[in-house]
Amino acid sequence: MEDLQQQAARWDQWAPYYDEDTRNQDPSRAAAALADLAGDGAALELGIGTGRVAFPLAERGTPVFGLDASQKMISCLEARQEQTPGGRSLVQARIGNMARFDLGTHYPLVYVIASTLFFLTTQEDQVSCFRSVARHLSPQGRFVVEAAVPQTSGLASERQQMIVREIGEEHLQWSAFVHNPVHQIVRAQEVHVGPDGYRLLPNVMRYAYPAELDLMAQLAGLRLERRAADWEGSPFTATSTHHVSIYSRQSADKGASPLTGASA
Ligand SMILES: C[S@@+](CC[C@H](N)C(=O)[O-])C[C@H]1O[C@@H](n2cnc3c(N)ncnc32)[C@H](O)[C@@H]1O
Repeated sequence: MEDLQQQAARWDQWAPYYDEDTRNQDPSRAAAALADLAGDGAALELGIGTGRVAFPLAERGTPVFGLDASQKMISCLEARQEQTPGGRSLVQARIGNMARFDLGTHYPLVYVIASTLFFLTTQEDQVSCFRSVARHLSPQGRFVVEAAVPQTSGLASERQQMIVREIGEEHLQWSAFVHNPVHQIVRAQEVHVGPDGYRLLPNVMRYAYPAELDLMAQLAGLRLERRAADWEGSPFTATSTHHVSIYSRQSADKGASPLTGASA
């Protein structure tokens, strides 16, 4: 529970900057693929944030319900609801912990994207998330996990790294990382320095390789149906930096997966 409060406090700090920070990430491909997977049903997004992908998905006809730890991220989502015609019925969100939830509803689609699963900072909480998802999937339902493939090579030897993001005459933005390989934890600070002073935006993540996620899925009674490198369904290879993984019930008899057209 303490971890949830800490993550909520970190994301409260991010909330005023999140949309600006992610403005270059086009959500339309994710929304199109998720809409195909949801079919006529509704979707549940874990760590919905400001609704960056939820709104484009809802505009394609999929109502979205979301959970998030941060009241300030949800307040940004609510501001967007006000600006979107019918916004309140398209996207709804409430405070909740994606590690453990009981909504009393089944969904054809549950998804967690943008490496948000890694904000659960223990293996136990990540496994618990898969188990909570499994309880909320309809019989033919799918759980989509989109995440980075951990790239720790730069962090492996020194266990710390600095990356300059932007540099100008009057401002500097950089990221600092410290890596704990024993617990697979990366702590980060995004640092902005400019004429108005400085700001620090913290992050703590527990990364997991795709194979570990597959095992978590198995523990929850799910199986990997298909893994792609991106939302268009490009093949996942040894050099892929991201993955879009689709899990479903182990026993379910599935048809073609709309993300890839592949038969399970
Ligand atoms: C990287 S943002 C992603 C937001 C949104 N999914 C998107 O793609 O833009 C991660 C979100 O996860 C939320 N979060 C972190 N830990 C959480 C938890 N245990 N339960 C629910 N939400 C959590 C944060 O508050 C934040 O809004």
